[in-house]
Amino acid sequence: MHCLRKLVLIIRDSLPPSVFSTSPRISKLANIVCRLNHEFLPSDIEMAEETEQERTEYQELANYYLGTIAGAHRVFIIQPYIKWGPGKVKNTTPELQLAEAEALVKTLPRWAVVDKKCVPLLSLQRKKLVGSGGLNELKKRILTADYVTAVFISTNMLRLVQIAELQKEFALPVFDRYSIVIHIFRQHAKSPEAKLQVALAEIPYIWKKMIESNVDGKINLEESRKRLLQGRQGKLKKALQKVQERRTVVRQKRRFCGIPSVAIVGYTNCGKTSLIKALTGDLSLMPRNQLFATLDSTAHEGLLPSRMKIVYMDTIGFIQNVPEGLLAPFRVTFQDAIDADVIVHVVDVSHPDREAQVDHVRATLKSLLIEDRPVIEIANKCDLVEKGTIPEDTIAVSAKNATGVDLLRKKIEEELVRSTGQMHIRMRVASGSEVAAWLYKELTVTNAEPDSENPQYMYMDVFATELQMHKFKRFLKQ
Ligand code: GTP
Repeated sequence: MHCLRKLVLIIRDSLPPSVFSTSPRISKLANIVCRLNHEFLPSDIEMAEETEQERTEYQELANYYLGTIAGAHRVFIIQPYIKWGPGKVKNTTPELQLAEAEALVKTLPRWAVVDKKCVPLLSLQRKKLVGSGGLNELKKRILTADYVTAVFISTNMLRLVQIAELQKEFALPVFDRYSIVIHIFRQHAKSPEAKLQVALAEIPYIWKKMIESNVDGKINLEESRKRLLQGRQGKLKKALQKVQERRTVVRQKRRFCGIPSVAIVGYTNCGKTSLIKALTGDLSLMPRNQLFATLDSTAHEGLLPSRMKIVYMDTIGFIQNVPEGLLAPFRVTFQDAIDADVIVHVVDVSHPDREAQVDHVRATLKSLLIEDRPVIEIANKCDLVEKGTIPEDTIAVSAKNATGVDLLRKKIEEELVRSTGQMHIRMRVASGSEVAAWLYKELTVTNAEPDSENPQYMYMDVFATELQMHKFKRFLKQ
């Protein structure tokens, strides 16, 4: 009670610059961010149980069914689309899908697009996709194009027989979207977790292709190959589980420390990494004009206007038209988004296909989130569109020019305070006292400064929930 009398509680809207580098919590935060990003040891991917022979055999199998991307390729893109009926895609156009297919190809190092064509179809089931007239036209176009070395058919997954037939017709390797995306994922996976997930995502594709080749009667689904795939899948899952358990521990520790997190999500290439760079001033972040540049969710520390410390989570970009099987192993990278206190959905307002992209992200988020989470939708790349095209109630941001970023920070803070039930409180306590130590240990201290009228006291700004305040009062009564 004696201490309580000394205590002054003032709830304030804004606070002066901090001296909180003295707080032990800041090093705790840096520690956690570091561990979220680097907790995983390189040995995780090596899966000690896999023998050299198994690895070589798997590599041969993967090269056969997925193709290889070694070296450069000059690609002809075919964008098939269904003209009418239930298979017709409604919220985008074949031209926009073709543009996305082109962006996918350009993401692969030393791959270039030589020529491209949208091809109307009645269904995707025909062995050669198109009739003989259409096929001859395509062959002529490919032959007259400037030295084509591969054909990319921009549809989710072709059947093995379709790939074989079309390879024969074009006398060139043929890739579908699934195999291209896998190759991109392989290139961009950096952490053992992402590498394990990519390795796991390959297996259903190879498995399906093996079954198809069995049905076509060309190759038997040999017992040894079946065992090889099943064994590898089991080992990968086990290794992934270990990595994820460690990630969960780190995540729980972060929660225990009461450090709020904000997940930055959005369609691939919408500017998530650029936004985190603008929000945190982290110059080491390198945004790239490539699809799926970020395959790992990484943590970055930041400060809100009240000096509240938070963790921003960069996440894998969403993309449409990728088979469910491929994205399923990547869902775990969204765990951070699912767990985050606030989600920022970044929309590239300059993108011609933005409506379909927004619909896709919203629908995916809805399917992932078990509980309601505050979602702030922002219009990024506003520097590329005419003023007045962005609705007034949407925060317009240019991550590139760092405009709108302050407003966004303020909005994030409002949502955090609302969703976590935290109060912003200013207290006057004796310098170096047990009370001050307790506050540093138990709460998020955003600022501490000496009382100019009596240097034996200091003002401390903290964030606390009602429960934490009860705990604090109990401590004072001791
Ligand atoms: P993924 O990791 O592939 O999902 O990409 P991302 O969403 O993290 O996008 P990233 O930040 O890598 O940016 C993609 C491209 O858009 C880069 O070339 C950025 O420079 C560019 N970009 C991002 N924000 C803006 C912006 O506000 N204005 C403009 N003009 N370009 C931007």
